Amino acid sequence: MNPEHHRGGSRPARATDTWTVAHVLCPTLVGRDREMAELRARVAAGVRGEGGLVLVSGPAGVGKSRLVLELAGEARARGLTVLVGRATSSEVPAPYRPLSDALRPISPSSLPEGPDLHGFEGVLGRLAPQWGAGRVTAPEPSPVVIGEALLRLLHTLAGPTACLLMIEDLQWADPETVAVVEYLADHATRLPVLCVASLRDDADVRAVHDATRLEARRAAEVIRLGPLTVTDVAAMTRACLATDAVPAEVEGLLRDSAEGVPFFVEELLAALVTDGALTRIDGAWTSTGPLRPRVPPSFIQSVRDRLGETGPDGRRLLGCAALLGRQFDWRLACGAAGLTPTAAHDLLTRAVALQLLAVQQTAFTFRHALTLEAILEELLPSERATLATRCLEEVESAAGGAGDWRHLAADLAEISGDANRAAAHLIAAGGGALRRGALATARAALTRAASLSTDAEVRAGAAELLAETTASSGDLAATRDAVSKLLATLAELDAPAGRRGQAHLLLARSAVAAAQFDLASEEMAEARRLAASAGDAALAARLSAVAAQVAIGEGRLGEAEALASRAAESADATGQPEALCEALEVAGRCARTRDLDQAEAIGRRAVSVAADHGLTLWRMRSTYQLGVVDLFRSGAVEVLERTREDAVRLGAVATVAHLDLEISAGLEFQGRWEEARERLQNCIETSEVLGLRTLEATARVFVAIVEAASGARRRMEAAISRAIALAGKDPEVVGALWGDARAIASLADEDRARARRDLQTAVDAYGTRRAAIPHLAAALLDVLVAIDGGEPDPSARSGATTTMCQPSGYLAFADAVRLGRAGRVVEARAAARSGDVQLGRAPWYRHLMHRLCAEAAGADGWGDPIIWLAEAARFYDSRGNERLAAACRGLLRKSGAPVARPTRRTRRLPALLRDAGVTGREAEVLALVGEGLSNPEIAERLFLSVRTVEHHIGWLRRKLGVESRAQMVARAVAAGPPAE
Ligand SMILES: Nc1ncnc2c1ncn2[C@@H]1O[C@H](COP(=O)(O)OP(=O)(O)OP(=O)(O)O)[C@@H](O)[C@H]1O
Ligand SMILES: [Mg+2]
Repeated sequence: MNPEHHRGGSRPARATDTWTVAHVLCPTLVGRDREMAELRARVAAGVRGEGGLVLVSGPAGVGKSRLVLELAGEARARGLTVLVGRATSSEVPAPYRPLSDALRPISPSSLPEGPDLHGFEGVLGRLAPQWGAGRVTAPEPSPVVIGEALLRLLHTLAGPTACLLMIEDLQWADPETVAVVEYLADHATRLPVLCVASLRDDADVRAVHDATRLEARRAAEVIRLGPLTVTDVAAMTRACLATDAVPAEVEGLLRDSAEGVPFFVEELLAALVTDGALTRIDGAWTSTGPLRPRVPPSFIQSVRDRLGETGPDGRRLLGCAALLGRQFDWRLACGAAGLTPTAAHDLLTRAVALQLLAVQQTAFTFRHALTLEAILEELLPSERATLATRCLEEVESAAGGAGDWRHLAADLAEISGDANRAAAHLIAAGGGALRRGALATARAALTRAASLSTDAEVRAGAAELLAETTASSGDLAATRDAVSKLLATLAELDAPAGRRGQAHLLLARSAVAAAQFDLASEEMAEARRLAASAGDAALAARLSAVAAQVAIGEGRLGEAEALASRAAESADATGQPEALCEALEVAGRCARTRDLDQAEAIGRRAVSVAADHGLTLWRMRSTYQLGVVDLFRSGAVEVLERTREDAVRLGAVATVAHLDLEISAGLEFQGRWEEARERLQNCIETSEVLGLRTLEATARVFVAIVEAASGARRRMEAAISRAIALAGKDPEVVGALWGDARAIASLADEDRARARRDLQTAVDAYGTRRAAIPHLAAALLDVLVAIDGGEPDPSARSGATTTMCQPSGYLAFADAVRLGRAGRVVEARAAARSGDVQLGRAPWYRHLMHRLCAEAAGADGWGDPIIWLAEAARFYDSRGNERLAAACRGLLRKSGAPVARPTRRTRRLPALLRDAGVTGREAEVLALVGEGLSNPEIAERLFLSVRTVEHHIGWLRRKLGVESRAQMVARAVAAGPPAE
């Protein structure tokens, strides 16, 4: 045992030493003028809306934190919002720790109005419990989503000024935090959000390498702190001692030994005062003993001396505290050191006076990371292990709530020499990180657990979770690797066949997700063999569900359906609710291609299974399926809307985007174009953020469809070229944009020949494979073919096409045309009525069918062509579809029926605006912009929300091609006021 630690307690108190060492901390910031000026400039830029990332880097103790905190103080004084979070050193750092720390003071209820956080509450809940305590969140590609959520939150907090996020000691941050910071660096450049991080750049850790990369690609500005100049060191010494008369030998010692590092300046002075070598007599500093250069070479010695001052109990207490971390829970340290709270409290107070600890808000922290490191080094290995064991016991028995303590427990177990216990904690931490979607941390924790443990069973547990983690991140190569290691460990364990089968199943799933069907089939074959030899019916059920996914993915519907129902039966029989839900989802998708009632029954069953077993995610997925059934049946979106709310609550941002797309399809069908555009805009924004290219491409196709029906061909083509740029020749995209966009635009232009060509291109693009997708183009083509006297196309009447109201509405009219021509008038009437029912919610498309079939109906004596045309003319007038309206009126005139004039509502819109595709509502907003009203004023005037007004203005900008509000005002004035 070190003799030093017996020394302190018996030391006589010095009468002159009323100036405690804590006083030698430098009260003012010395030097750093240039760096401070740069930082101030960045803050000013932040207030102007040019945020970003600044890294303050340099070696230990050089003054990074001091500079950053000085800046924070100034910014707060200027009314900026400042959040500070710290990373702490750990073998595998806890995910998002610094960000959680920074967000702790923010409650959702205290937020001002700002960028839309709707949908991000669940995600923020992963960082700060007050944002969604107890919420189940969906696994998502997390750092990006979290980055976006955080950015929106900080932007909101910025209010009229700016928000400053300080991250201390980025070098110790977990990879997720670094990824989020990187996201902020890339995306805050045009927002009032500034992130300032301190970084000890002499550490050889991943975060430092990441930071170097950020600097290289100019995503971050780096302010490097070097040592203070000799003049600054002298100034700092004077400031620390609060005197101009520093004894010359003290000044010389500091100049020679402190190496310009402010931390050492303070430590050296503290050591001199503790030693009694420097005392204050009658307000003047006098050196009263030999001045030995002790810092930095003997910095540990100086800490040791001060540690000695606290006696054996203090040494034990501070040893435990150091093991518990820079900012530690003093009750745990007290328990581990076996002290009473009163005794511990006295010792901690003493340690603060000795400048070993500091008080930060309500917690004790080591004054400096170097202090903590010095104390740890001071402990003998055996002492450290013993104290670590006691700390571990305290930590474990106090454990509860969030799993971050597991990371500490793992470190303590490792120090105490219990590798298996460390591995067990890391596995628990890794599992927790996996559930939070912190995949990189999960990977690090589980990999370390696997390498630490000597116990094959523990290693297998880690490997299983690790494979799940890599599979969740969509990394097929890593999953293959993890599964092969897992299989090796399982072989070593002589594990049962069923467990090995699970490993193959996991890889198969991962292969399905990556559309690697060959690999999937191989793995499934192996898993099936193992399931059979183990007689594992549960595994077999899961396998059938995955096999059904493969079949539906490859368009083999019949087979998919058989597999799915078999899977559902066996999952039910073996009591596996998740596998049952999965099988039911596939079964429902298959049933949807034949029979919506059956699809609905299957969906309901899945919802109730999920509800009974508390499977929140599956409940949402099953409700989603029910919503799609409704959408198919009538174009209704209410169930999808409810599902969207659930998805929002779960923080499933990507699912919300998918739902926005589905909902927009229903809204477009119903002719609610404005709302459809709004949803598509949301969907596009999210998919851009998440990098979901296919989803974005589809959303752009939908934008094209909305523009097609509203007769805006130029905007339609613009949307189409963006979709193609994203999706290339994806047959689904190509088919939809010819069949659902261009063909409709051609029909809106009354160019039927062109529409037929467009539709034929679409049908050819789809090919025959896509039986699970409703085939609108084929159905619409069949209508035109019927009108031209052609034969029905059986392939237009297969699969999902016949179950969805829109194409089956078309097909009913095609039937009516053919029946009428064959003289079967009664049947033709019935078919037309059924078409009207199918298109009941879709006036635009219903009128289109009426317009297309009017001549045939008139000639053959079915339907109500006169009424149809009169109604269609009125309707298309009101929608700005002039060609269609004119065609209807032309036909009416030919038939001798009285023709109504275009309605006032359409005439009211100035041509300038109508041609740009501006809607009535947008025109009203524009007029008020022209009157100089602000958005909130417009909102009040028109009884709209501010967000809706902003949305209209966004569209006006795009439609009118204007950049600024001033230009928009000019356009409004040019257009003149709306009539009435
Ligand atoms: N320019 C300065 N003027 C006066 N005191 C300073 C200055 N820079 C640092 N100090 C003081 O020196 C000590 C160490 O500085 P600080 O904690 O900021 O270092 P750091 O670079 O953050 O170290 P680490 O890498 O260990 O986090 C602190 O007590 C701080 O107040
Ligand atoms: Mg620091």
